[in-house]
Order: sequence, then structure tokens, then C-alpha cells
Amino acid sequence: MKKIAVFPGDGIGPEITAAACGVLETVAELAGMEIDLQQGLVGGAALDVHGDPLPDESLQLALGADAVLLGAVGGPKWDGHPPRQRPEQGLLRLRKGLDLYANLRPAQIFPQLLDASPLRPELVRDVDILVVRELTGDIYFGTPRGVEIQNGLRRGYNTMVYDENEIGRIARAAFEAARGRKRKVCSVDKANVLETTRLWREVVTEVAGEFPDVALEHMYVDNAAMQLIRCPAQFDVILTGNMFGDILSDEASQLTGSIGMLPSASLGNGRGMYEPIHGSAPDIAGRDLANPLATVLSVSMMLRHSLAAAVWADRVEDAVRAVLDRGLRTADIASPGVASIGTRAMGESVVAALQQGEWA
Ligand code: IPM
Ligand code: MN
Repeated sequence: MKKIAVFPGDGIGPEITAAACGVLETVAELAGMEIDLQQGLVGGAALDVHGDPLPDESLQLALGADAVLLGAVGGPKWDGHPPRQRPEQGLLRLRKGLDLYANLRPAQIFPQLLDASPLRPELVRDVDILVVRELTGDIYFGTPRGVEIQNGLRRGYNTMVYDENEIGRIARAAFEAARGRKRKVCSVDKANVLETTRLWREVVTEVAGEFPDVALEHMYVDNAAMQLIRCPAQFDVILTGNMFGDILSDEASQLTGSIGMLPSASLGNGRGMYEPIHGSAPDIAGRDLANPLATVLSVSMMLRHSLAAAVWADRVEDAVRAVLDRGLRTADIASPGVASIGTRAMGESVVAALQQGEWA
């Protein structure tokens, strides 16, 4: 019996996780896999009930699970809250509490969606990027941090910090991932200005010595942001820190047409949490408009990385392809003037494709 903790979260979170859980339950049924889905509260949903964005019972639920599925957190309702009482803190504490230091964010092109990309098709056709983002360090967690008054002026500060162990383990994750791909790692930093990332470059170079079969290149983050638009097909694995990875993965998502298509896996020490890279989209919450495919594809990553069911991971991806082949689109990936379907219908279409055995 595999225990899966499910945290729908806020905004569109409940809708997209419901669709993805439908897919997961279908796979379990077809594969004869016993799963037990247990829901928990995180983010604003937890704040509303417990006054805490990550109540202890939620952390315990996640710690005791074989895998975690998460929707999205945050929303205008809690925007005025002090930093520690914000929904995002629930997510960050969950990542930290599970020590999920390796965030894998694949940006793949579905040929059916080439038109949805804001870039010309010939630029994005061959894009297949894996962003490996460090997830439990950097300026996100560094101290000291705060806002204070100094000499009558309000002053805000954060600390960008990495030690060599933190850099070494994420670098190894990136090099290992590259071995299953095109064996190219591009490490992104700002070593021309920031000491922290000078150390990053040094340690990544040292770790590269353990992987002579993988090519390593270093790139400054500003240049990387430009190259992602200029010539995105040059990248295989992009290895970077928490902050740069947050930004570059949103950028990479646009190559594929919609951030609604990008899944992620957050891994560390045998644990795994799976979530779409997009946010809670409060503007379309509760209206059956959100694209559930990023979350469905996150379930595929869960099958691959936590449930030892790579065959079924492939089949979920094939089912998504089959649905796209059939022209089914949520609003975010529909061409102008073309009819779109809702969150629920999209989830049900993937389920139907799985049931009909529509995999290659
Ligand atoms: C993401 C999100 C989070 C992050 C927020 C919600 C804290 O943007 O997963 O990319 O910054 O990591
Ligand atoms: Mn982000």
C-alpha cells in the first residue's frame, strides 16, 4: 500500500489536484497498485483553519507518506499577512521539512502546442530542457533577513547563502539527471558579482570531475535569461540555485506555450513531492478554467520517481499526448477563436485515454 499525501492548497489548487487524483486512481486501478490518498491542509487553506500555513499534522502526514502531491498556495486574501503567516511559508516549510533539495522542472515541447508558444515554432521545436533548481537554500532561507528602521529609514535585507555541501549535492543531482539525457549541464550563476555564486561555480566544477562523461558549461544568469529566448534548444540540463531557478523555470515554461503544462518533482533523501510549477491563479479559481495537465504530468513524475512505475509514468504522458492530438485544449493553450474545455473535462479525457489504452 502506497500512502500519498495530497495538499490541494488554494485558488485553483483543489480543482487541478482533483483532476490529477482522478488520473492517479485510474493508473492504480489499471496497474493493480494499492494506493491510499490522504488529504491535508497547507497554505491559506491551513491558515484559515489552524492559523498556521503548515500545521504540524500536515507536516507529519507528508513525512509519513510515500509521496506528496501538491496543488498551489497563495492568494490575495492573505497578501496583507506578515511574512510568517503567509501561505507561501507553508510550502517553503514543507520543502525544507522534507529536505527536498532537488527540484526538477522539465520544459518539453508538445508538438501539438507549437502554436501556443510566443516564440516562432522553429525556435522551440527542439526544446527539451530540465531545470534542476536547488530548493532548500539560497536567499529564500538565508538569515539574517527582515525589514527594520535604521537612521529613520526603512531598510530591507535578505541573505544569499550556500555552503559547499548544499551546492555539491544539487550539482550531483544535475549531473546524474544529465546522464539520462544529452549529457550537458549548464550551471547558471552570477559569479562576476556574487561571492556565493563564485563558490557555486567552484564546487560545481569540482563535482564535474566525478562525471567526465557529462559536459559542463557555466553561464551568467542574465545571459541565460537571454539565451533561453534567443536559442532555447541549446540547453539540456540547467543547474541553478533556488532564486535563479524560480525565475528561469517560469521563463522556460513560456517556451512550451503555457505555464499550465509544466510539472515538477522535488526530491531528496528518497522523498518526493510533486506539484505544477504554476501558482494558485486566484483570478480563475473555482471556475473550471484551469489547465490540470501540469498537475497530471506531476503525477507522471511521481509514478516515475516515487512509485517505481516508470511504465505507467510513460503511459500518463502518452495519454496527455493523445488528448492533445484529439485537439482538446483548456483556455490557456487554445488557439484564438478555438473552443476550449474545462478543468474537469480535461482530467476526464486523460482518464478516458488511459482506460482506452491510448498509449504508444
Ligand atoms: C514556485 C513558487 C514558489 C517559489 C512560491 C509559491 C513560494 O513560485 O514553486 O516556483 O517561489 O518557490
Ligand atoms: Mn515560481
